[in-house]
Amino acid sequence: MQRAQVEVTGSEQVGPYTLLHVARGGLDPGIPGQFFMLEAPGRPLPRPMSLCLAPPGELAFLIDAIGSGTRALCALQPGDELAILGPLGNGYRLDVERPLLVGGGIGVAPLPYLSESLGRPPAVLGFRSEGHAEAARLVPNAEVVIEPTYVTAAIPAGHDVLACGPEPMLAAVALLEPGAQLAWEAPMACGYGACYGCAVELDGELKRLCVEGPVLPAEAIAA
Ligand SMILES: Cc1cc2nc3c(=O)[nH]c(=O)nc-3n(C[C@H](O)[C@H](O)[C@H](O)COP(=O)(O)OP(=O)(O)OC[C@H]3O[C@@H](n4cnc5c(N)ncnc54)[C@H](O)[C@@H]3O)c2cc1C
Ligand code: FES
Repeated sequence: MQRAQVEVTGSEQVGPYTLLHVARGGLDPGIPGQFFMLEAPGRPLPRPMSLCLAPPGELAFLIDAIGSGTRALCALQPGDELAILGPLGNGYRLDVERPLLVGGGIGVAPLPYLSESLGRPPAVLGFRSEGHAEAARLVPNAEVVIEPTYVTAAIPAGHDVLACGPEPMLAAVALLEPGAQLAWEAPMACGYGACYGCAVELDGELKRLCVEGPVLPAEAIAA
């Protein structure tokens, strides 16, 4: 884990989302599914973001502007600076034989980097509209489903599922694929185990998602 002040190198719209590129500096991109805390200038608290892509010399994050913190990150322009801390948490296990990436909505964010690390395996992505589905262009070999069809209807049997998406989607994937690896979310203030803001129940005990997760085996979380 390292802290760095880095420069924004680019910002592009991907449907309703923003793909923010920053200079990598000396930061290690980490393992797919790990995350970074991004702090926009003048904002009191950083926000957790999965690493989306690690092009040479850069890190890129796909951001859904749902509140003031994410709006501030999406408003950053090339040349602006931000503070960044990471990589944090536990990513996906990559020792899988027949990977299938499953993403829902902004849960597509960690999948481009994961796809590159696993040699571009098949993916199934679900979105609530055609506009949101523009993000599918970041993930190679992806089949896209749009609501009212849910992504769980398009998961073929016999794969090692690696998923990220909203909680109801992850709960449904866990029922279908008890061996799946799932990336969960919780509000996070520090990102490295100090504040207990991200405590969730795991195996009947309260544990910090930023330390034990965010990627967990499906059986670890009671749905
Ligand atoms: C490990 C991890 C990785 C993440 N990766 C990404 C990513 O790659 N791209 C991305 O766009 N977002 C990602 N998120 C979610 C993102 O961090 C939150 O959307 C962001 O912190 C919200 O901040 P805000 O100030 O914009 O909104 P706020 O004003 O703090 O919240 C707006 C609304 O969203 C709810 N909310 C806030 N945070 C969360 C959360 N974590 N889960 C569920 N509801 C929440 C609040 O209750 C509120 O209703 C990730 C979260 C985690 C924990
Ligand atoms: S975010 Fe502070 S302990 Fe997890």
